Amino acid sequence: MQKNPFKFGSIVDDPYFTNRTKEVVQVTSVLNSSNHLILISPRRFGKSSLIFKVIAQINRPVIALDLQLLTSIEDFAGQLLKRVYRVYPFEKIRQLVSHFRIIPTIALNPVSNEVDISFRPSPAPMPMLEDVLNLIEKLSSEKKRSIVVFDEFQEVQHLDENLPRLLRSVMQHHKHINYVFLGSQESLIRNIFEKKKSSFYHFGMLLPLGKIPENDFRNYLLQGFHGSVDNEVEIAAAILGFTRCHPYYTQQLAFTVWESIHRDGKNSDVIGQAIGELIRVHDIDYERIWNGFNKTDKKLLIGLSMSDLTPLSEAFYRTYDIGAPSTAFSSLKRLMQSGYIIKSDNKHEIDDPFFCKWIKQRRDR
Ligand SMILES: Nc1ncnc2c1ncn2[C@@H]1O[C@H](COP(=O)(O)OP(=O)(O)OP(=O)(O)O)[C@@H](O)[C@H]1O
Ligand SMILES: [Mg+2]
Repeated sequence: MQKNPFKFGSIVDDPYFTNRTKEVVQVTSVLNSSNHLILISPRRFGKSSLIFKVIAQINRPVIALDLQLLTSIEDFAGQLLKRVYRVYPFEKIRQLVSHFRIIPTIALNPVSNEVDISFRPSPAPMPMLEDVLNLIEKLSSEKKRSIVVFDEFQEVQHLDENLPRLLRSVMQHHKHINYVFLGSQESLIRNIFEKKKSSFYHFGMLLPLGKIPENDFRNYLLQGFHGSVDNEVEIAAAILGFTRCHPYYTQQLAFTVWESIHRDGKNSDVIGQAIGELIRVHDIDYERIWNGFNKTDKKLLIGLSMSDLTPLSEAFYRTYDIGAPSTAFSSLKRLMQSGYIIKSDNKHEIDDPFFCKWIKQRRDR
C-alpha cells in the first residue's frame, strides 16, 4: 500500500520538509557565529522544524526545552539540568553539580534510563537556574559550542516577571553557547526582544518566519499527488487557494485529500469534501472557542471571514457594526495575542482557514 506523502502536526524533516533554503542558510550562519537567534512566527509555521533541520546538519551539543510546560523556576532549572545529562558525560556533570549553591535530588529512573531531577521549592529559586546555565557554559568550549533552544520563550514572563532580566544577566556572560529563542505569540515575544526598555533588547538576530512561498509549496503538492490523480495541478491550486499557503493547514488538507482519493477513489469535489470533513471533526472545538469570544471579537472575526477589508478601516467598522475604533483595536490585539488572527504579508487574516469557513457556514445557515 502507498504511504500518504503529507505530514502535519509534529516536527517535519525530509521528505516532508520543503523550501526554507534561505532560512536554513541564515540560521546556520548565526549558529556558526557567536550570536544568538530569535525565531518568531505565528503558531505552526515551522519554527521547530526549521531549527531542528539545521541542528541535525551540524554536529554540536544541543539542549532544547519547551517553556510552555514549566510550572516554576525550580522546575525550569530541573528540566534544563535533565537535558544537560542527556548530552554530556554523567561523571563530568556530577562533579560540577556538587559545587551548586543548592544541590538537586538526582535519581536514575530505571524505566526510562534517564535521570529524574528535582530542586526543592525555595523563596529565591534563581540561583538554581543560574547554576544550571553556568554549568552548560562550563561544559562547552570554543571547539564544541553548545546550542540551547528555548521553545515558546514568551512563556518566561508568566513564570516570573523578573525572570527575563535575571536570565539576560546570566546569559550575557556566556561565550560558548548560542541561545535560540523560539516564540509564537508575536507581540509578546517582540516585547521581550524589541522594546528598548526590555532586558533582552537586541540580544540576538531576530528572524521572522513567513509562510512557505506558493511556488515551492505547489511543487511539493504536485510531487505528492503525482500518480494518484490526473489533475494534480488543479488539486494543488485548490488546496493552496483555501489554505493560503499556511504550512500546517496545507499539509493537513493535502493529507486528508490524499486519504480520501485512496480510500473512496476520485471524484469531482474531493477538496470540498475534505474541507467539510475537517470542519466537522473540529465542530465542537470551534463552537467552544466561539462561545468564549465577546461581541466585538465575534463581529471582527465575522468581518474578516467575509471580506478583504482591513479590520482597521472606517469601511470595516461601518460594515460590521464594530463601534469605536479603540474597541476594535483592543479586540484585534487580543485576538492576535491568542493567535486566532495573524498578520501575513501585511494583511490580517484568521489563522485557521477551517475555522474561517466554519464561521461563514454558520452565518449562512
Ligand atoms: N518546511 C516545511 N515544509 C513542509 N511543511 C512544513 C514545513 N515546516 C512546517 N511544516 C508543516 O507545519 C507543521 C508545524 O511545524 P512545526 O511544528 O515545525 O511548527 P512550529 O512553528 O514549531 O509550531 P508550534 O507553534 O506549534 O511550535 C508541520 O507538522 C508540517 O506539517
Ligand atoms: Mg514548535
